[in-house]
Amino acid sequence: MEDLDQTFIQAPEHRADSNSIPNQPEEIPVIDLSRLNDPEDIQNVISEIGDACETWGFFQVINHGVPCDTRKRVEETVKIFFDLPMEEKIKVKRDEVNPAGYHDGEHTKNVRDWKEIFDFFLQDPTIVPATPEPEDTDKRELTNQWPQHPADFREICQEYAREVEKLAFKILELISISLGLPGDLLSGYFQEQTSILRFNHYPPCPNPELALGVGRHKDGGALTVLAQDSVGGLQVGRRSDGEWIPVKPIPDALIINIGNCMQVWTNDKYWSAEHRVVVNTSKERFSVPFFFFPSHETNIEPLEELLSEENPPCYKKCNWGKFFVSRNRSDFKKLEVEDIQIDHFKA
Ligand code: OGA
Ligand code: NI
Repeated sequence: MEDLDQTFIQAPEHRADSNSIPNQPEEIPVIDLSRLNDPEDIQNVISEIGDACETWGFFQVINHGVPCDTRKRVEETVKIFFDLPMEEKIKVKRDEVNPAGYHDGEHTKNVRDWKEIFDFFLQDPTIVPATPEPEDTDKRELTNQWPQHPADFREICQEYAREVEKLAFKILELISISLGLPGDLLSGYFQEQTSILRFNHYPPCPNPELALGVGRHKDGGALTVLAQDSVGGLQVGRRSDGEWIPVKPIPDALIINIGNCMQVWTNDKYWSAEHRVVVNTSKERFSVPFFFFPSHETNIEPLEELLSEENPPCYKKCNWGKFFVSRNRSDFKKLEVEDIQIDHFKA
């Protein structure tokens, strides 16, 4: 216990062992997307997705079209990267100016996470456009940093990113339809998307009862597409009562979770669930989230089409880019994308 750095220690009420998992936990829905090929089943799939977004904000998809061998190659190359000596990894370390690259000091709600990460932007290089205030000339160049080893790291990662991006657009379309909206209503917000692909490595932890791989948080963007390995550890807070429910690893499945932007767009119909990762003493774990983020100029506010006298907006308008950049600038520790708080939008 004295080995564990203080910065990792969770407050007692947030520790993994203080909230026991129900004996027979419910499971988040699993949806087979190959059913979309059957015209008679499409509507059922869409309404299952809608129900999952509303009840859980989390579901898993199988037969999702992202080739398994592409994902496996990513997992292999990422393992090789994280296995490199620290002096190699810090050659691509993220810093105050550039938020892309390697980092092992991630914090969630000011407690350090038991993990190391590597982030890259899908659109590379990305220049953050000036925020709406003309005097704000602080344009920051966000350039991806790629390691020299493994040599094919960049190519393999970008290939996976392209595949997972296609799935994200597909899910976005299905979600729009599930809301009774045109399928392409939201895709326009992603023309110059600020999406990030992240690799998480959670090493074994000597004190899993005190630390977390990632502390409880909500993802900030529109939605997240997450690949996890077979180790397990991800838990989602159930919407109805906040109980922590494990997200069971299913080979070749991908996890979809709703982010804060989607909750705002839908005026709280769809749910951005809190989630966290518990660690263990013996097994390292890898996961690959794709954070689907809109373009900088997007204003996030409840969609007019969904509002009525009975359903007035519960969020005020907020510019995504301004929000994103200002968070980055104001406190580097809070750079982590998942820390973008939904409270910020509250009307
Ligand atoms: C995240 C996250 C979950 C996981 O990186 O935002 O929630 O299983 N990761 O690694
Ligand atoms: Ni998350």
